[in-house]
Amino acid sequence: MQIAVPKETYPGERRVALVPSAVAPLLKLGLEVSIQAGAGDEAGYLDSAYSGQGARIVENRGDIFAADIVLQVRCLGANQDAGQADLEKLSDGQILIGTSDPLGAPESIQQIAERGVTHFAMELIPRITRAQGMDVLSSMATVAGYHAVLMGATALPKMFPMMMTAAGTLAAAKVFVIGAGVAGLQAIATARRLGGIVSAYDVRPVVKEQVESVGAKFVEMQLETTTAEDKGGYAKAMGEEFYQKQRELMATIVAQSDVVVTTAAIPGRESPLLITAEAVRGMSPGSVIVDLAAERGGNCELSQADQQVIEHGVTIMGPTNLPSAVAFHASQMFAKNITNFLTHLIEDGKPRIDLEDEITRDTMATRGGEVTSGRVRELLGLAPLEVEKAPEIDEVQGDSPPPPIPFDDDPPAESPEKQ
Ligand code: NAI
Repeated sequence: MQIAVPKETYPGERRVALVPSAVAPLLKLGLEVSIQAGAGDEAGYLDSAYSGQGARIVENRGDIFAADIVLQVRCLGANQDAGQADLEKLSDGQILIGTSDPLGAPESIQQIAERGVTHFAMELIPRITRAQGMDVLSSMATVAGYHAVLMGATALPKMFPMMMTAAGTLAAAKVFVIGAGVAGLQAIATARRLGGIVSAYDVRPVVKEQVESVGAKFVEMQLETTTAEDKGGYAKAMGEEFYQKQRELMATIVAQSDVVVTTAAIPGRESPLLITAEAVRGMSPGSVIVDLAAERGGNCELSQADQQVIEHGVTIMGPTNLPSAVAFHASQMFAKNITNFLTHLIEDGKPRIDLEDEITRDTMATRGGEVTSGRVRELLGLAPLEVEKAPEIDEVQGDSPPPPIPFDDDPPAESPEKQ
């Protein structure tokens, strides 16, 4: 079976879906690997590195899309305009794996379905123990949380660490992180490494311990949050009255901060508005807000997707594709997630579509001309499919994840980070 990786076409996208060290594990699965010439260039992976690992370099994009399995970072829904050009290259029975924003762009999933393709949307990977190594959203949020802090530090006319110099003592920068999920925790850790004084807030009280374990102070607020978490461990949408009170209580902390990184998100919803224009006016000139939620409306009233806004001397940034800025490592993580997924899917050199398996079933968005994901069908106003009635598989708590596939560039097991 042929598996192929085209060059990404989303404007500004520098990632690639497979890195050279992922080729050997796929060959071992019995697949033949083809890479479009130049696909990894912008992430720092040259054609020669792929061919050195046994991949075939293919010039023609049409030939890449003729493979049995196509891997992309951004499939149509996550690449709405430029992605249309590839749609007609997809054919019946093919497998397409990558991100496609199925809950944000369900119409694109319908278009993919109409091509007869079996599409696995990596955003739909269930957040269960067994699938942790396939969780592309967590990988990319880690990269984004890290880079958001670097952006904030670069735009701030101050240094992060406290310094005692012959020219006087410089105070450490104060950083406030709102939302302590995957991106938020990485933002906290990064700001701490740079020497900032970091505090954080999240509506889910359980994350207090995690916030403290990465070196930040958890901000306590007079808000009723006992019902803020759903059974899956995600934040629930709260009423407008709650957000109004949260905005008021947080305005003081925001005003005292040099850098605010916002990552508050509720699955499948617009991001909650947590910093008003009024609160921005309360900040000192030179302060910076980096709003990671800008793509879904933003946590700050003044954020604009992929723009830098300056208001009252405060810089507000709303980057929407930070993983692309750290394309080498973001691609490495993405490739590892995809390779773990393929290891799960491929048996004896062929894909095995087992709808009784929770990972395969939940991640599959289209098959046989139909949109198969119940969540996407609901958004499109379509009736549930029979396939949705497949028996529920109970997640076994503590179930061990599949063994990680070693890549040549994996660091030794004893990582210096884990002291
Ligand atoms: P996550 O679901 O792990 O974390 C979101 C956190 O926000 C949760 O801990 C939740 O409890 C918290 N939250 C929800 N409502 C809140 C409120 N009112 N106040 C305080 N905290 C609240 O999500 P993850 O993976 O960390 O992603 C965070 C955001 O970053 C998402 O909007 C995601 O789309 C975005 N993102 C942006 C990227 C970019 O390049 N701009 C790249 C990757 C992710």
